[in-house]
Amino acid sequence: MRIGVLCSGGDAPGMNPCLRAIVRAGAKHKDEIVGIRHGYRGLLEEEFWQGQGQSESSDAIPLIGVREVSGLTNRGGSFLNSSRCLEFQTAEGRQKAVSILRKHKFDALITIGGNGTLSGARDLGRLWEGQIVGLPGTIDNDLLGTDYTIGFGTAVHTGVDAIDKLRDTAGSHDMMFLVEVMGRHCGDLAAYVALAGGCELVATPETVTDIPAIVTSLRQFRERGKRSIIMVVAEGDEFGGAETIMKALKEAGSPFEMRTVVLGHVMRGGVPAPFDRILATRLGCHAIDVLHNGGTGVMAGVVKGRLSVAPLDEAVKPKTAETGSEEALKSEAATITRLIDRLSV
Ligand code: F6P
Repeated sequence: MRIGVLCSGGDAPGMNPCLRAIVRAGAKHKDEIVGIRHGYRGLLEEEFWQGQGQSESSDAIPLIGVREVSGLTNRGGSFLNSSRCLEFQTAEGRQKAVSILRKHKFDALITIGGNGTLSGARDLGRLWEGQIVGLPGTIDNDLLGTDYTIGFGTAVHTGVDAIDKLRDTAGSHDMMFLVEVMGRHCGDLAAYVALAGGCELVATPETVTDIPAIVTSLRQFRERGKRSIIMVVAEGDEFGGAETIMKALKEAGSPFEMRTVVLGHVMRGGVPAPFDRILATRLGCHAIDVLHNGGTGVMAGVVKGRLSVAPLDEAVKPKTAETGSEEALKSEAATITRLIDRLSV
């Protein structure tokens, strides 16, 4: 089977061990694994990964050999690079991709990425007769049909590491830090970072950010002798980012001197944590098995700890319901927020 692999959208720690697993699990089936560089853009530009000790198919397409993925277990970023491709978002672009996939006789495609990547895979699957399996690779944890996405665990680790450091400064200066973390429209990353970081407050898109209520809590913290505060703010919070919330808190009379820190792209980098290496490796092998069992149009994930598949169409449905709605309040981010409230005394 000739299988193309690409990583698209924001890179996520764990994409590389995932690729390693795909190449090595595919080798057992004598699959030809073709690395497509720079995501869908590379597909449109026929940019295939070329190695040093190059192996080639009979029709001279470069293949990724098993030795060429050595050392990828602990490598961050995306070995195949990544991109966000506007052309692929057009019907013409996707039609062009189909022609290229046919021209090079691909039987299957594995796409590793987040919501945009897997929506693209779903749309491509409507035009192309080959098999498509998506893998959840994003720090956002915003896909349905999997407990966790590849990269989420490492990003939580990165966020907590930053908070542990900020805690020292916050304590030394009796200050409050508002730390903005990525996660797009989903509050999971912020909630997990806040819980693991022992933070007093968290703002996510799932729960309503009530400025007067936060100021009341801050005054109570002060009265009870708390000298420093850390609030984690999800970048997708409905009220705004850390800077906007800080200004509003100031105007509403926050008793703390405040600073903001935006962690931004730092959260996407770094050596993948063991949890992500394991998830990525399991899912890479799973994708090969799904393809050899004839599966297509699905995302391979892990649900309640067990390997699973979900239709791509289901996987990419918005995970985050409207802020404060009954559904949003049942989400993991909202549940963790309530836990943090309970512990912030
Ligand atoms: O989807 C991953 C992610 O890092 C989001 O958390 C963030 O909102 C977005 O990508 C940033 O995208 P870019 O790197 O294009 O600015």
